[in-house]
Amino acid sequence: MPLQGYKMIREATLDDTMGIVKCHLSDVDIPEYPRLSVFDRYKYGGPWMSVETCSIHLNYMFLHNQPVLVAEIGNEVVGELELLIEEEMFLKKLRKVCNADVLIVHRDFRGKGIGKALMQKAEEFAKAKGCDVILVTPEDRSYGFYKRLGYKKLLENYVVKISTGNFDPEDAKLCSFSWEKVKRLELVAGRFQSSYHHWFSSFVDLIADIDKILEAGRLGKSYYVIRELPNGFGGIYVWGHEKDIPGILGRAKKYFSEVITAISRDLIEELEAEILRRNIILGKWIS
Ligand SMILES: CC(C)(COP(=O)(O)OP(=O)(O)OC[C@H]1O[C@@H](n2cnc3c(N)ncnc32)[C@H](O)[C@@H]1OP(=O)(O)O)[C@@H](O)C(=O)NCCC(=O)NCCS
Repeated sequence: MPLQGYKMIREATLDDTMGIVKCHLSDVDIPEYPRLSVFDRYKYGGPWMSVETCSIHLNYMFLHNQPVLVAEIGNEVVGELELLIEEEMFLKKLRKVCNADVLIVHRDFRGKGIGKALMQKAEEFAKAKGCDVILVTPEDRSYGFYKRLGYKKLLENYVVKISTGNFDPEDAKLCSFSWEKVKRLELVAGRFQSSYHHWFSSFVDLIADIDKILEAGRLGKSYYVIRELPNGFGGIYVWGHEKDIPGILGRAKKYFSEVITAISRDLIEELEAEILRRNIILGKWIS
C-alpha cells in the first residue's frame, strides 16, 4: 500500500546518523554482523555500517555542501539519498551533474513509494541547483526501479581487469590535486560513477586509513590515483588523456600485479584488458 501523505522528505542533519545506519543495516544478511568490529563493518559495507564511521562520512558531505536527504515516517528515518553535485566533463562537455550517489530504503518499508519520493525530491533539488542532468550507476537489483522512474542509459563502459606486468612505469610528479585541477578533464579510466564522486572519495571521504590512496600525481597531461578498492583489488583513476594510461598502469605495478578499472570499449584490446562486466550509467536530462 502506498504511504502517500505520511512520508516526509527533508535534508538530513547529523542527528539522523543512527536512523541512516539502521536503514543500511536492514540490508545486511550476516547473522554475526553485530559482533564485527567497526573496522570490519566498514570493510564490508562502507561508512554507513556504523554510527562511528557514518557520522564522519556525513560530516564530509555537509562540509562540502553536498545534499543528504532522508525520508521520515513519524519520527523514524526510513530512507536515505545522498547527492553529489558538481560541474564536470560528461559526454565531452562541461555540465552540471547531480549524481545520485547512495540510495537506500529500510527493508521493512520498501515498495511503498519511498524510493520514488526520494528520487523525485532529488530531481527538484537538481533543477533548483541548475543541474543539466541527474545520473545514477544502478546496482543490478535496482536497475528496474530507475527504468520505472524514466531513467535512460546515457553512458556505457566496461569494468576490466588489467595485468600491470605488461606496462612500463613512466616518470610522474607525485602530488595530490584539487577538484579545480581535474574538473575540465575527462575521466578516461575508473568511471564507475560521476567524475566528482571519484575525486571526492579519493581526497575527501577518507576514514580510518581504509580508503587511503597509494599514489597520486601528474603524468604527461593526466592526473591519476592508484588505490586499493574496498574488495582488496588495486584500482586506477585517470583524469586526462587515454595515451597516459599505459604509463600509469606501469606505475601501479609497484603495488599490484592486476588492477580493476572502468574503460571505454575502444581501449580494451590495446590494454589487453579482461572484461568483468558492463557498467551502465543511467540518467535524466533536466529541462
Ligand atoms: C531500490 C529501492 C531504493 C527502491 O525503493 P522503494 O521505496 O522500494 O521503491 P518504490 O516503492 O518507490 O518504487 C517505485 C516504483 O518502482 C518500482 N520498483 C521498485 N523496485 C523495483 C525493482 N527492483 N525493479 C523494478 N521495479 C521496481 C515499484 O514497483 C514502483 O512502481 P510503480 O510506481 O508503478 O508503483 C529499494 O528497494 C532499496 O533500498 N533497495 C536496496 C538498495 C538499493 O538497491 N539501492 C539502489 C542502489 S543504486
